[in-house]
Amino acid sequence: MKQKVVSNPLDKLPEILTRNIEKNLCVCNEVPKKVVINAIANGAETIDEVRELTFATGGNGCCERQVKRLIECIHSIELEK
Ligand code: FES
Repeated sequence: MKQKVVSNPLDKLPEILTRNIEKNLCVCNEVPKKVVINAIANGAETIDEVRELTFATGGNGCCERQVKRLIECIHSIELEK
């Protein structure tokens, strides 16, 4: 896991990815999207790391694509710095 922290990831994500931030991204385990974004911004780089930190994707894995997309977006922001 990366040590670097992305500050204010919400300001840099496309608007479509910041919608419904208070709602559960992972419905199976009731994990809000903001919790997943925070975990990624604080260094989680893989779906496994996000699952360890938040339990998102730990149900039947139906939200893996969304989590993967957030990982790609948030860590690409970091590279742009
Ligand atoms: S919604 Fe996340 S594992 Fe099903």
